[in-house]
Amino acid sequence: MQIDYQLLEKSKQKQPITSVKGVSFGSIRTNHMFVMNYEDNEWKNPRIVPYGPFSIAPGAICLHYAQEIFEGAKAYMHSDGELRLFRMDKNAERFNHSAAELMMPEVPVELHLEAAMRLIDVERDWCPNEPESSLYIRPFMFGTQDSLGVKISNSYIFCIMVSPCGPYYPGGFSKTIRLLITEKFHRAVSGGTGTAKCGGNYAGSLKPAAYAQKMGADQVLYLDANNRFIEEVGTTNHYHVLKDGTFIIPQFSDSILKSITSRSVLELADMGKVKARNERIGIDDFIAGVKSGEIIEAGGFGTAAVISPVGSYVFDNGEVITVGNGEVGQYSKDLYKLYTDIQTGKTPAPAGWLQTVPRY
Ligand code: PLP
Ligand code: COI
Repeated sequence: MQIDYQLLEKSKQKQPITSVKGVSFGSIRTNHMFVMNYEDNEWKNPRIVPYGPFSIAPGAICLHYAQEIFEGAKAYMHSDGELRLFRMDKNAERFNHSAAELMMPEVPVELHLEAAMRLIDVERDWCPNEPESSLYIRPFMFGTQDSLGVKISNSYIFCIMVSPCGPYYPGGFSKTIRLLITEKFHRAVSGGTGTAKCGGNYAGSLKPAAYAQKMGADQVLYLDANNRFIEEVGTTNHYHVLKDGTFIIPQFSDSILKSITSRSVLELADMGKVKARNERIGIDDFIAGVKSGEIIEAGGFGTAAVISPVGSYVFDNGEVITVGNGEVGQYSKDLYKLYTDIQTGKTPAPAGWLQTVPRY
């Protein structure tokens, strides 16, 4: 499909930022976005246009019944001055999984990737080049049919926007976070939309996240609906590290988002570069392991948050348990270095993990 360019004139462009230090995640906007429309059962009019508002009907289905999905990927500036996407093919594939869950049309993976690369090529000066920084890529799609009846939209907008970013949590990798272990809230249930990256899952996480903050935590560690097994964090998957250095990631289920970061760590384990496995984790065993010292580190895995070590957990009754000495542990440090060195080209990446953004 031919992508139309409707670029801002140079004189009207915002100048790229030079640093993302101290900037809150996702707050910076660049000059352009990619947009295309789905109508009459096909994608139409792919274009790169100035970043700006959409015009949609007040009755658009996305505004009432949340037929909306999104992805999160990153591009990194390498020392040769080229920008490389990290495993964005996996995001484009998961986007189509989410689309299927929400009864939305697929976006062909090749088209999705080309759209992202052409947009990033236009915005390449916006990619930061500082430690813990990258160009965050946010593809999303929403149903636009004007209908108050609950139904599958017959029209959609697909858009990609990008945002230069630093760490998701303000303290970055070196500051541990605290998670709330609660039985009061659940993110997803078996048979629900937990494996889809849909806006509704995140709308539902706002009240639990506010409660977590009231309890002195940064985020919620969600359990399954029966409060027996660890599922994931509101914005990442979860991991813990055993005394022998093995990373344990909760078994993917039909209520957990299949994190590309977690899958990458498991693939690195298959390559013998780290010890990691995917396992069902009972919450009682987990708590006992933290208390006994069998579990020495923990954290979250995600694109925005990369690896976010957890220093402690708080419970609904205010009790706090500390993981190890509450600081970032050596196994998390080593994995963080390996993972970010791969992303930034300081160490060779497994075949197919990086894709250079062409200069079109
Ligand atoms: N779980 C949730 C709920 C998330 O929002 C994210 C972020 O994307 C993840 C897990 C991590 O997934 P990934 O590593 O693919 O970014
Ligand atoms: C990501 O890690 O890309 C996410 O989407 C998490 C969060 C910003 C919602």
